[in-house]
Amino acid sequence: MIQTSGVILGIESSCDDTAAAVVNRYGQVLSSVVAPQTHIHSPYGGIFPEFASRAHALSVIPTIRRALAEAHVEGTQLTAIGVTRGPGLIGSLLVGLNTAAGLAIGWNVPVVGVNHLRGHLRSADLMEARVRYPAIVLLVSGGHTFLARMENLSSVQTLGTTRDDSVGEAYDKVGRLLGLGYPGGPAVDRLAKQGEASIPFPRPMISEGLEFSFSGLKSAVSRHVNRYPEANPADVAASFVQACMDVLLTKCRRALTAFGAESLVVVGGVAASPQLREGAQQLCAELKVDLCLPPLRWSTDNAAMIALAAWDYVDHGIFPELTATASMPMSVF
Ligand code: KG4
Ligand code: ZN
Repeated sequence: MIQTSGVILGIESSCDDTAAAVVNRYGQVLSSVVAPQTHIHSPYGGIFPEFASRAHALSVIPTIRRALAEAHVEGTQLTAIGVTRGPGLIGSLLVGLNTAAGLAIGWNVPVVGVNHLRGHLRSADLMEARVRYPAIVLLVSGGHTFLARMENLSSVQTLGTTRDDSVGEAYDKVGRLLGLGYPGGPAVDRLAKQGEASIPFPRPMISEGLEFSFSGLKSAVSRHVNRYPEANPADVAASFVQACMDVLLTKCRRALTAFGAESLVVVGGVAASPQLREGAQQLCAELKVDLCLPPLRWSTDNAAMIALAAWDYVDHGIFPELTATASMPMSVF
């Protein structure tokens, strides 16, 4: 039985998905609507920021209306609105922020500006509280790649970030190189399953530390494809995915061994990768720690995770300003 007294409306528009969701205090999702813009950006092979903002402006109100209707909730009944304030594309963020600010006045409810990265973190607790602390968090998305240690929900220690590209960007670039369209991640995964990881691509920074680098791997794939146009694309995809997995899982193992933790939390769009889910599962079984993954549909950007993160702010009485912020670390509420 889903508890509906006390619900937050989450609004997410930081990148190329307009999303709204209604979530109760226990992380149960009453509704979650995502209006993707893939069809708008795929002809360009990446996100076109001005087109993203325009598409958000067109779909934000219908998306919110649908989320409220599916949850059978009126705006005036909300405990609060949680809206992504960053990191992300400024024009896109402003659409969500301004909409939330206006609705909050109209409905006379509080509004909270949410850190998108904290949203991804909280995606692992949607529908059921999974994360036990202290936890090691691997956040792998289109915009970010980092490892953090969390003593509890309020204490975040960043262990290592990427020096250049995120792993999601590398997937998207390889997807483009192989003519798989945008976003590349899911298509690269599918193709990789049909190939053999026979090409020895580099594993950047694998032998020490907790930092990442993916631009060298990206360039190595590009050089290989240009040099051997007859190379089997499935083998290229499989070899690239294997290199990414080796790096990501080696760093997770190192962090878990060095710092100790009850759980490994893997979140962000690349956490939808079956290869990463399977690899993390094996690693956690071996090291005897819990693996906490978001339900598949909430690995990529969505508003349910923003609403659940907003509950943390409300519970702690934190109401950040509704200013759009292009970059911010996960330690910031
Ligand atoms: O978290 P997200 O939806 O947006 C950001 O906050 O960036 O992550 C998007 C990224 C894209 O780079 C996309 O290619 C990647 O996540 N992605 C995947 C998969 N699904 C999405 N990467 C690998 N395997 C997937 N199945
Ligand atoms: Zn995201």
